[in-house]
Amino acid sequence: MEDICSLHNLALIEDACQAHGALHHGKRAGSFATGCFSFYPTKNMTTGEGGMITTSNEDIAQQCRLLRNHGQSERYCHTVLGYNARMTEIAAIIGLSQLEHLEAFNQARIRNASFLTGVIKGIDGLLPPRVIPGNRHVFHQYTIRVTPAFKMSRDELKSCLEAGGIGCGVHYPIPIHHQPLFKDLGYQDNLPISEAAAREVLSLPVHPSLTLEDLETIAEALKNA
Ligand SMILES: Cc1ncc(COP(=O)(O)O)c(C=O)c1O
Repeated sequence: MEDICSLHNLALIEDACQAHGALHHGKRAGSFATGCFSFYPTKNMTTGEGGMITTSNEDIAQQCRLLRNHGQSERYCHTVLGYNARMTEIAAIIGLSQLEHLEAFNQARIRNASFLTGVIKGIDGLLPPRVIPGNRHVFHQYTIRVTPAFKMSRDELKSCLEAGGIGCGVHYPIPIHHQPLFKDLGYQDNLPISEAAAREVLSLPVHPSLTLEDLETIAEALKNA
């Protein structure tokens, strides 16, 4: 990827929106290039809305500062067409406080994921998320595959869990090449792996507030299904 970017003089943008505190071969998500983190409420840490860009490239940093504040290079002087993407002081205070808890939140997510993986591994037809050795996954989502070898479809399993009071989600039901925005690109029928993923993925609860009792309830529901 880095080679392609340097060949064409492109900035490499790393989508680290779900990866606060994750490591890839020992290196932090968001430190490979220009990183983007989301602070949306469901994320590993939040400021209510908004996010953060990380970069060690001074030109990109300067450009981001410009774009975030209506393209103003100095007060009331607009150099480019920008946005209002300023973080409020109130949001920043929430974020600083969340940052202090991030490691504990992540460790709780990792513990919950490890419990769930122990359960899923014992059930034919369900596949736990794959964690690449040497990486640290921080489980913004804990997404399993409900393969055709399982007794019911993904949607049937989802309904079954929801009937037992267990919230779960599909991330995501429409693959990107089927999004109306991209339909004119012409990939409608020829990305079978993406389509299978959209049919089979199911995200189970993994958030840091889960209790052991909650996890056992999820385990029982999966085994009964
Ligand atoms: C991987 C990924 N990238 C980007 C985004 C967008 O983040 P935001 O809604 O904060 O702009 C999300 C949000 O869910 C995400 O999960």
